[in-house]
Amino acid sequence: MPDVITAAPLTAEEIVALSKKHTIFEWSAQGAVDPIPVSHAKGCYFFTPDGRRFLDFNSQLMAVNIGHGDERVIDAMHEQAKKLQYVNPFLVSEPRARLGAKLAELAPGDIDVFFFTNGGADAVENAVKLARLYTGRHKIMARYRSYHGATAGGMTLTGDPRRWANEPGIPGVVRVLDPYHGVQRGWDDAATSLAMIEEVIQLEGSHTIAAFILESVTGTNGILIPPPGYMEGVRRLCDKYGILMIADEVMAGFGRTGRWFAIEHWNVVPDLITMAKGLTSAYVPLGAVGMRQKIADHFKDKVFYGGLTYGNHPVACATALATIAVYEEDRLIENAQRMGDLMTRLMREMSDKHPCVGATRNIGLFGIVELVKSRETMEPLAPFNGSSPEMAALGKEFRARGLYTIVRWNTFFTNPPLCINEAELREGFTSIDGALSVVDRML
Ligand SMILES: Cc1ncc(COP(=O)(O)O)c(C=O)c1O
Repeated sequence: MPDVITAAPLTAEEIVALSKKHTIFEWSAQGAVDPIPVSHAKGCYFFTPDGRRFLDFNSQLMAVNIGHGDERVIDAMHEQAKKLQYVNPFLVSEPRARLGAKLAELAPGDIDVFFFTNGGADAVENAVKLARLYTGRHKIMARYRSYHGATAGGMTLTGDPRRWANEPGIPGVVRVLDPYHGVQRGWDDAATSLAMIEEVIQLEGSHTIAAFILESVTGTNGILIPPPGYMEGVRRLCDKYGILMIADEVMAGFGRTGRWFAIEHWNVVPDLITMAKGLTSAYVPLGAVGMRQKIADHFKDKVFYGGLTYGNHPVACATALATIAVYEEDRLIENAQRMGDLMTRLMREMSDKHPCVGATRNIGLFGIVELVKSRETMEPLAPFNGSSPEMAALGKEFRARGLYTIVRWNTFFTNPPLCINEAELREGFTSIDGALSVVDRML
């Protein structure tokens, strides 16, 4: 065994073997993982040490929004690392000061004050903490088709099956159904869904509920774009009962939907907003929770009982500032709108051609395809929380064609970096076309 720090570059096989032997993989039985080794990445592509190229059609975990390897951000990270790597969060640094002010400019309404965290889950934890301290109430309402992070609170708020093995979790979480009920049953309209939410509020006792947390556009659980009137209705219900609205924009924020924040599509200002991923494009870890001025004011004479060793990390804040400059300089929010429109057209063509496509959805470059056994029954091509030979074959076909994306249950995602151009987007859909033909033949 060579010295792992000083040895010559490891081969692709060595990277996989050592990683499997000495590290743990997320959400997996360890014996079943088959990771792709990655040596470097640029723009919308990443590369393996043995020279294979993949089109990154999921921006890794819907995070590398500006694309890989942007020299402007790397230089800013380098400059900050040379000057000041770290100060504890009781001291302040220039990147922290600038990033707070910049986010106040970008975030909706009077969300002008931010608490910086290490990532998405602890942004959610701190949003819950802020809501409980501000309202003096303890319950948090959340939806079933949701993901809010893998920490204790985030996991309990999460509705999807990743929660099951982590229960019982934190006390006080109340769950409501979504307007979407899967590819077979489809959608409720806003009025129906809001009536159900109001009934739960009344049954739970509105005076016990501190906040309702919801993804502005649900990410992993289906790229669920709320029906017209839903978000406005949620805002009205929250106002009516003194409940704070927490928009979880960890995945949907930073241009993914063609707006800085997805909630802007409905002109709604939440009381708290969580963000991470696109904030630094995942070049380094950073999250934040933004709050309206009234919540920040509450803590002028009351203690905020929260803190993180790496909070306001200067290198992370400098990275976020440089990342935001790239969104602005390269007009990536506008590109996400334009390429999102093209994605909608390409989705339609794909759907016309392949009978296994049951539904497609996208808003900006936030997209998903749901596959079905037949369009008559609309039975999903894999069961809830399960897989099937066809979905497994689809994953293999994507990989063989150099297309990287996530295949989950009966769905796969189309979430490329926001810097993607028309030729690259078409290249992705050509690979999808080939892979879906294999699935069609299996059915
Ligand atoms: C909506 C949402 N909230 C929270 C999280 C948790 O973020 P992190 O993995 O950075 O802790 C995620 C991660 O995917 C997410 O999509």
